[in-house]
Amino acid sequence: MRRFPIANHPDLRRRLLLQCGSTLIALPTLAARAAEAAVPAASAPTPAQTEGPFYPRVLPADRDADLTQVVGRSGSARGTRLYLSGRVLGVDGTPAQRVAVELWQCDVHGRYHHAGDEGLPRDDDFQGFGISATDADGRFAFKTIRPVPYGGRPPHLHFRITRGGQAALTTQLYVAGEASDRDAVIAASPSGTLARLSIRLTPAPEREAGALKANYDFVLR
Ligand SMILES: [Fe+2]
Repeated sequence: MRRFPIANHPDLRRRLLLQCGSTLIALPTLAARAAEAAVPAASAPTPAQTEGPFYPRVLPADRDADLTQVVGRSGSARGTRLYLSGRVLGVDGTPAQRVAVELWQCDVHGRYHHAGDEGLPRDDDFQGFGISATDADGRFAFKTIRPVPYGGRPPHLHFRITRGGQAALTTQLYVAGEASDRDAVIAASPSGTLARLSIRLTPAPEREAGALKANYDFVLR
């Protein structure tokens, strides 16, 4: 019977070669994955939604990113506090710097401000409209109130993002689990839109008692 040193045994050599081969294949794969991780992930653009009839006709004098306080008034808005933050990104994942994120929504009574929305009680301590400019990382942040349903529509927040004064995206965000395609605006949107435009509200006791928070990243085409 012919004897082979263990390392020279044909079966073992073949197995070693196979193992080495797979290691050689695995190394470039790991290197490629590391390179991929360094490049921001590409994403589909955030779906657009109708602007609706309640964009301010005249922007309020106080239009900062805290919609719960109006300059010159001692009170603060009624409603549950919502801290909403996120980023504005390009489809290649790069941050959109110094773009203006505009937010408008109705007050706790369901009334829009600055848009001729008459008939309902009005919370004069709610700003109704605000702007947050993105920083170098594309980050924005608002302090506002949890959106409420009104006129048959589910709770939602309106946004317009402008870049260099030009509108880049107009859309709406919905509270996860509180909207469906029974809403006319959602029903008129392509399938999958609601899932892309839903925000999950979670408690934010670190901000203030009873407050909620949510995060959302907008992707501009
Ligand atoms: Fe609306």
